[in-house]
Amino acid sequence: MTHGFSVAPWELRWDTLDLDALERTESIFALSNGHIGMRGTLEEGEPRGLPGTYLNGFYERHPLPYAEAGYGYPEDGQTVVNVTDGKIIRLLVQDEPLDMRYGRAIEHHRVLDFRSGTLRRDTVWESPTGRRVRVRSERLVSFTQRAVAAIHYEVEPLDGDIQLVLQSDLLANEPVESATKDPRVGSALDAPLVAEHGEGDGLHAVLVHQTRRSKLRVAAGMYHSFEAGDGMACEMHVEDDLARLSAAIDVPSGSRLAVTKLIGYGWSARRSVPALRAQVHAALAGARQTGWQGLLDEQRAYLDEFWANADVEIEGDAELQQAVRFGLFHVLQAGARGESRAIPAKGLTGPGYDGHSFWDSETFVLPVLTYTMPESARDALRWRHGTLDKARERAQALGLEGATFPWRSIDGAECSAYWPAGTGAFHVSADVADAVARYLAATDDEDFEREHAVEILVETARLWRSLGHHDVHGGFRIDGVTGPDEYTAVVDNNVYTNLMAQRNLREAAAACERQPSVAARLGVTDEETAAWQHAASKMVVPYDEMLGVHPQSERFTEHARWDFDATPQENYPLLLHYPYFDLYRKQVVKQADLVMAMYTRGDAFTPEQKGRNVDYYEPLTVRDSSLSACVQAVLAAEVGYLDLAYDYFAEAALTDLHDLHANVRNGLHIASLAGAWLVAVAGFGGMRDHDRALAFAPRLPSALTRLAFRLSYRGSRFAVEIDQSGASYTLLDGPSLTVRHHGEPVELTKGAAERRAIEELTPREAPGQPKGREPHRRTPKF
Ligand code: BGC
Repeated sequence: MTHGFSVAPWELRWDTLDLDALERTESIFALSNGHIGMRGTLEEGEPRGLPGTYLNGFYERHPLPYAEAGYGYPEDGQTVVNVTDGKIIRLLVQDEPLDMRYGRAIEHHRVLDFRSGTLRRDTVWESPTGRRVRVRSERLVSFTQRAVAAIHYEVEPLDGDIQLVLQSDLLANEPVESATKDPRVGSALDAPLVAEHGEGDGLHAVLVHQTRRSKLRVAAGMYHSFEAGDGMACEMHVEDDLARLSAAIDVPSGSRLAVTKLIGYGWSARRSVPALRAQVHAALAGARQTGWQGLLDEQRAYLDEFWANADVEIEGDAELQQAVRFGLFHVLQAGARGESRAIPAKGLTGPGYDGHSFWDSETFVLPVLTYTMPESARDALRWRHGTLDKARERAQALGLEGATFPWRSIDGAECSAYWPAGTGAFHVSADVADAVARYLAATDDEDFEREHAVEILVETARLWRSLGHHDVHGGFRIDGVTGPDEYTAVVDNNVYTNLMAQRNLREAAAACERQPSVAARLGVTDEETAAWQHAASKMVVPYDEMLGVHPQSERFTEHARWDFDATPQENYPLLLHYPYFDLYRKQVVKQADLVMAMYTRGDAFTPEQKGRNVDYYEPLTVRDSSLSACVQAVLAAEVGYLDLAYDYFAEAALTDLHDLHANVRNGLHIASLAGAWLVAVAGFGGMRDHDRALAFAPRLPSALTRLAFRLSYRGSRFAVEIDQSGASYTLLDGPSLTVRHHGEPVELTKGAAERRAIEELTPREAPGQPKGREPHRRTPKF
């Protein structure tokens, strides 16, 4: 048992009733299919931590608060809305409400099952007057029927005959504590839904609402089917924000009351009340026809397929095995059925970051999806494509060409109110382009290339050409931007940004060459592609000759070093305890930046440079962002610090299960969970995908005895299995392909596993970290 969860390979189990941990477990037990998200709240609605039901893309607008306005500052913010809650099923035992704060929980178990894709609960509760019942529930948010969630709920009397009353609700405008301190934002989110329609009869009900400002409309419906003896009295009651089915029945000892509650959702910016209502009726009709068992079977089949393509097996550390599968399960939940909507930084697990998407999606989550569920990666990129008009408008407002993708957003419009770590982080546009290029290389999806990819690559390349300039020496500079490290802002020639822009410019030129008619339609001329190539070839990449390292941006290595020894532990994260001006002018790194560049643009550095740069940046990097550990792990593994990489692996994988950033209540850190896959595959598997080819350089830390993963690549699926002395590569299906193993080509053909040896490394001592910021030394947990 660690941090309340028992270690098991395919499930996450919680065996106590710790009401103080409710907010945390609600995020961790959240269910989602990328379209609907439901926090893991108890069915009875109370006690609760932070209730939340979300629909991807559904938000309320509010004015962005500025003390002093400035030109080009976005005016409107967007915040994810807690929509109509369909999870609530209250129970009265005789006449006492089941409430875990009262009476006694004789048993209470909750299990998130990674293979069935469900959350199960098993509670034996004794009421304050001593009546005992067993409540079992299982719920799912369907991967196959995207608009549907379902709960199967059973009550069994344990002390003789009993009267049970069950109340099943749809509840809108559920009061939630606002995360924001700004009253203007808080008031926009206080009861954001205006009732437009309510109906209910017999066992079904539908409520339709609209947000006040963003004018988005949501319909939620419920339908019940009971398994119970005779004599049940049912009544449906509907008001503006509530539909409630009350069902009363005498349940004799030895039998039980069971109900399946089907919940359907639909939302739209354009569709009318009747259209949305019809949509929800249709979703419920489909789910009724499938039935509870059918929904369970479909869910299982979907997950079987997912794990066949995406599983990562780890031997030597059972807790990490569980954590990595937990992470993959949530990455799937965040990205599976978003279908042309964004993948938010928290998925649909909580209100953190207002439900916004960041570069997290393209840089951390999409690599996982590209090689395991390529269609989901494509859909997420189609969302970016769908926001190009907004990105072009933003570029225009900033006096730039092409498209500037937002730093944070729900619908594609920039929502960051803080320039230096918002719009200033222009690299997000190159990150999108990089994800597009990776997806194309991994799939050869020509339709996507023609219809979406070329336009994204061209518009982002245009941005770089206008944002940068050739200096008097001919070098192409990109000045006044912020790289991934938010403790250094508005700088010149950030190496990460410049190298990613360089790739963006080259990929755009190559795509135009492959798709000349699309390029012509976009008005791309030969002069323009030549200019991109020229800018790429002249890209400035600062280097400190004296220290033999890359400054992460110009002059970075000349700044004063942060006084880590004088910084007490409780002052982390630094951004909450020191002014930005001081962080900006000193050498202190919030999250991997130059080290990130050495991962995504590893082809631009020599092995010696990588080693020296890692040694230089480790002692400066405080990991105040959860996006750092995984990247540091990948580079530590590459340069030979395998045990350090293992420590960081654990940090990335356990970020949420151990609540390492003390904010899991607001939702999971999806990028860090995806980052655990990156460490396994790119760190210990050494996988790199530069230049449209796959290369591996596997090597395990001493604690692990075996690591295995599966990848999809250009219509083939193959498995990689690594132990301490070698690695084998097996083509599972699809055409043969060639990969590299520590530089040597390996041809994979059907039927034969190709095994190759791994040379031992000469151990080198790993660098230290800032005082008090060392990663936890990992000892394997079984
Ligand atoms: C990080 C960003 C990240 C954002 C959302 C911030 O703390 O610095 O890089 O995109 O969180 O996860």
